[in-house]
Amino acid sequence: MRDHFELRDVDAGGRIGELTVPRAGVTVETPALLPVINPNIITIPPERLAEEFGAEILITNSYIIKTTEDVREQALEEGLHEMLGFDGAIMTDSGSFQLAEYGKIDTTTEEILQFQHDIGSDIGTPVDIPTPPDVSRERAEEELATTKERLEVAEGIDVGDMLVNAPVQGSTYPDLREEAGAHAAETDLDVFPVGAVVPLMNDYRYGDMVDVVAGAKRGLDHDCPVHLFGAGHPMMFALAVAMGCDLFDSAAYALYARDGRYLTVRGTEHLDDLDYFPCSCPVCTEYEPAELRQLSEREQEEELAAHNLHVTFEEIRRIKQAIRQGNLLELVEERARSHPAMLDGYRALVQHSAQLEETDPVSKGSFFYLSNESAARPEVLRHQERLDRFSPEGEVLLTEGSHSKEYDESWKVVPPFGPFPKALRNTYPLTAELPDRLDRDAYERAAMGVKRLAELNPETSFTLAHADWPKSALALVPDGVDHVNLTERSERLP
Ligand code: GUN
Ligand code: ZN
Repeated sequence: MRDHFELRDVDAGGRIGELTVPRAGVTVETPALLPVINPNIITIPPERLAEEFGAEILITNSYIIKTTEDVREQALEEGLHEMLGFDGAIMTDSGSFQLAEYGKIDTTTEEILQFQHDIGSDIGTPVDIPTPPDVSRERAEEELATTKERLEVAEGIDVGDMLVNAPVQGSTYPDLREEAGAHAAETDLDVFPVGAVVPLMNDYRYGDMVDVVAGAKRGLDHDCPVHLFGAGHPMMFALAVAMGCDLFDSAAYALYARDGRYLTVRGTEHLDDLDYFPCSCPVCTEYEPAELRQLSEREQEEELAAHNLHVTFEEIRRIKQAIRQGNLLELVEERARSHPAMLDGYRALVQHSAQLEETDPVSKGSFFYLSNESAARPEVLRHQERLDRFSPEGEVLLTEGSHSKEYDESWKVVPPFGPFPKALRNTYPLTAELPDRLDRDAYERAAMGVKRLAELNPETSFTLAHADWPKSALALVPDGVDHVNLTERSERLP
């Protein structure tokens, strides 16, 4: 049982939680964004991150601190909080990312965790091995074994009340991610970053990212706070939160600003290509794009970084509100429409609907059917799964139209859910709002519901009265079920 992370609200796999960070004496509301601070190049001072952006937690790199002599001495002397001018929670990374970039670092888990403790970090990190995507299974297994050993070493080190990360590796092998998650959850470590996803993000492989997170989540427990290591683009936050990620760190806001790049929730733009700002943050209300281009390089970078952070935090707030209202998946659908790679991510997500269904609330405010992918949402799966709770008997009409007294029972049919007893018509998710012009997936999914109901009740005789379903849907209706098309005058209910 982890008592430092409490869930307050849930929607699909997403949650609003409260992470208690004892060493900092603060709690952090999740989903949370941790701005990355490079102690050598501070684009926006931490004090401003707290005051202007509401940052409750940030992340910096203990390996960079340790290997930069004057910064190291200052950090050891003053402590991180004083040195950076930040009273919130501070997470530190270990140098593993440098290990992945340069192939070698000069420290060990024992040494760097002790150092993180000594400079006053609130959440430290062992030296895990960030195994890249697509490596051989053999390499992924070997490196995972090393990461597991490092976590066990970390467990044995006395770091007082500093929390410790237990990174989950396993490359692009979902079963290894699951195994790594289960192992990490068994340690007494505290926060669970899904590691080595940066190469997936850089290549816009959001579908693979979803599969990797889904694997890790299967191994972890529901009460494990999960960090998506190195993921800082606001475009994919809703997707990652819906999969169950709680923490994000963003170096993107500063790195992109250095390159003149402007973040939006629909993707990245270059300042040179913008005639208008699609944003009303303080930066975008003060300047026109042309004016921003005229600033000195240094000022332009700072203003762009500020805008990038504004949209990033704004998206986190929007996601939290969506979880509160139970429409996180609607937000994910909206984001999915901004880039084909995001659509892949969402299509991968609905393939994990059964896994998300485990945490998805039974009742929410509303269900908006917004795309053919909506037909595979967890709520639809759950409805069809639970058809085994009913036992319709005799001659049963399943109808999209009016009911008939000629039958022993008369049920409603609504795509994408399929059949349900009339009495349920006012219960979520059967109150869903649907477009008049439905897609094939909605009808096919409803037909799958008819099929399941018929298979669950082999003794019952069903008649389906549908409003002109496509052939592909009717092909899914079992032979034993009669069907009539309500829109054809020649076809009448008996
Ligand atoms: N930063 C980005 N990815 C990783 C990772 O896999 N491990 C660590 N320690 N830091 C990271
Ligand atoms: Zn802006």
